[in-house]
Amino acid sequence: MSASMEHRPIPRLGRDVSVVGQGCWQLGADWGEVADDTATGILAAAADAGVTFFDTADVYGDGRSERLVGEFVHDRGREGFVVATKMGRRADPHVPEQFTADNLRRWNDRSRENLRDDTLDLVQLHCPPTPVYSTDAVFEILDEMVAEGRMRAYGVSVETVDEALTAIRREHVASVQIILNVLRRKPLEQVLGAAADAGVAIIARVPLASGMLSGRFGADTTFAPDDHRAFNRHGEAFDVGETFSGVPYDVGVQAAQRFAAIGSHGTPAQRALRWIIDQPGVTTVIPGASRPEQAVANAGAAALPPTSAEELIAYERLYDDLIREHVHDRW
Ligand SMILES: NC(=O)c1ccc[n+]([C@@H]2O[C@H](COP(=O)([O-])OP(=O)(O)OC[C@H]3O[C@@H](n4cnc5c(N)ncnc54)[C@H](OP(=O)(O)O)[C@@H]3O)[C@@H](O)[C@H]2O)c1
Repeated sequence: MSASMEHRPIPRLGRDVSVVGQGCWQLGADWGEVADDTATGILAAAADAGVTFFDTADVYGDGRSERLVGEFVHDRGREGFVVATKMGRRADPHVPEQFTADNLRRWNDRSRENLRDDTLDLVQLHCPPTPVYSTDAVFEILDEMVAEGRMRAYGVSVETVDEALTAIRREHVASVQIILNVLRRKPLEQVLGAAADAGVAIIARVPLASGMLSGRFGADTTFAPDDHRAFNRHGEAFDVGETFSGVPYDVGVQAAQRFAAIGSHGTPAQRALRWIIDQPGVTTVIPGASRPEQAVANAGAAALPPTSAEELIAYERLYDDLIREHVHDRW
């Protein structure tokens, strides 16, 4: 375990997780090719750097990400890790009526097989249709599934602040996964406080705005056709908020350049992660990585000094000047 890696609790799961976790979408698909040995290298690099929390989903690579994570944590020592997966995006069509007891148990069976665990640590509803959050029957089935030993706890991955607030009011929701980064500040207003008051963990996703906040991208950058940063730029395949946080590409490039010029510790990507870690109420931040070196650098954000008061002000100004009009009222 890394000396510099802080751990924070997921109270309703009864486990602590590293404040920097590892997002595992890249290990499946939608980001272009990631070979098996690269994928395993990313998991190993993260674990060696002190990461104990992996976030995957049953649809990432149609189960490939789950299988790679399952194989890795069982090889390394299962008890050292908390694995969160997601279910619900296999629903076809993706409508509330698909969230039946049969389907939820079938999706859960498949994840248990992929992850090689009889009892999953944490299962998140994967951005379900909004009415699902208000459907008591769905949460009663999830409670039954916990009682059956299919999973230790459940949570939700949400698109909007309103969905997060609805989910936080549910008695047994252990975690809310939400987009939170320098270009997506709305969760700071109500969600983080409500979650902290209720004892609900916050898992911050898309922390680098799909890599934008590393400052590596410019007007001429191209992405592979099978990378969502090429094919979902306008929300063609799924919620556009998942791609560059929903910020128009050219605006994002401009914001990232301004962001990179603020602050001096570590790299811009590390400062972007450190800012999230510093927000009261955040449990863990889950950057994705397409190379092992990125996983190491991202874990290193936990060792950076806290974001300074000057940086906090400059980031807020950047958001108000360039970003707020594009995202604030939408999610
Ligand atoms: N609906 C949902 O529940 C949902 C949706 C989205 C994501 N997630 C979860 O959240 C995780 C994180 O979000 P994300 O992966 O979409 O976006 P992200 O973490 O904001 O961006 C990941 C990308 O940033 C770049 N990157 C990572 N580390 C870097 C570093 N140290 N320096 C420079 N560039 C770096 C890489 O781009 P390159 O590939 O170009 O190198 C990487 O693919 C996912 O992996 C997934 O587990 C969940």
